[in-house]
Amino acid sequence: MKLAILSDIHSNLEALTVCVRHAEAHGAERFICLGDCIGYGADPAPTLRLLMALPGIVRVRGNHDEALFRPVTVRLDDIREAIDWTRAQLSEDLLRFLSEAPYVYREGDATYVHASASAPEQWTYLYGPQDIGPCLAAAGTPLTFIGHVHVPRVFYESADGVIRELEPHPDVPIPLSPRSRYVINVGSVGQPRDGNSGACYVLYDTAAGEITFHRLSYDYFATAEKIRAAGLNPRFAERLAQGR
Ligand SMILES: [Fe+2]
Repeated sequence: MKLAILSDIHSNLEALTVCVRHAEAHGAERFICLGDCIGYGADPAPTLRLLMALPGIVRVRGNHDEALFRPVTVRLDDIREAIDWTRAQLSEDLLRFLSEAPYVYREGDATYVHASASAPEQWTYLYGPQDIGPCLAAAGTPLTFIGHVHVPRVFYESADGVIRELEPHPDVPIPLSPRSRYVINVGSVGQPRDGNSGACYVLYDTAAGEITFHRLSYDYFATAEKIRAAGLNPRFAERLAQGR
C-alpha cells in the first residue's frame, strides 16, 4: 500500500493540486493530511473540497485549523486576520471537516499528528534531535509522521538509544530499519520554509518499508496573486517564492 502524506497545505490549491497529481501518478492509494489545511492562503474552500474527495482521506488537526474554533491557538495579528477571513469563506460542511478532526490518528505501525505525539494540543515545535524524545515516548509506534515546522526531516533512534537526524533528498527512497524508531517531518505542501519553494510531501510504501520525499514546482505566482487580491498580508504571498 502506498500512502501519500501531506501537511501544512495552508489553502494553497496550486501546490496541493500538483502533489495530488504526482502522488496518484506514483501509485498512492490513500491520502493522510497532517493538519494546517488552511491559513495564509486565499483558496480555503477549494483546497478543502479537493482534500475531502481524496481516496481514503484521513486528517488530523493543525493549530491553524483549530484557530477557526479556539482563538487562543494563534496569537499573531496577521495570522489571526487570515483565520477570520478564512472562516468567512467556509460553509458548514467544510468547517465540520476541520472541527471534527482528531489531534492524533494511529494506524498499523504509524502515528499521525500535526506537532508532537506528546501533548499534541500544545503545538510544540520539534526542530532537532534534542526535541524528539517525548514524541517518541508518547507515540507507541515505530513511526510517527509530523508537520508544523514546514521543514522536511527524518529523526531516528537507533539501537544505541541516540537520536540522529537526516536531511532527505527528493525522490530518493529512505529504507526504514525495523530496529529503529522514527519521527518523520513530511515538510509543507503549501508554504515550505527550508529555502526551497517546491511543494513537499511524502510517499510511504508500507510493503517495501520505505519513505520517499518529493519536491514539486508549481505556479506560486498564481497563488501569490490570489493572496494579494484577497487583501491578505502581502508577506504571505512573497514568502512562497523564497520558500521561507
Ligand atoms: Fe503550518
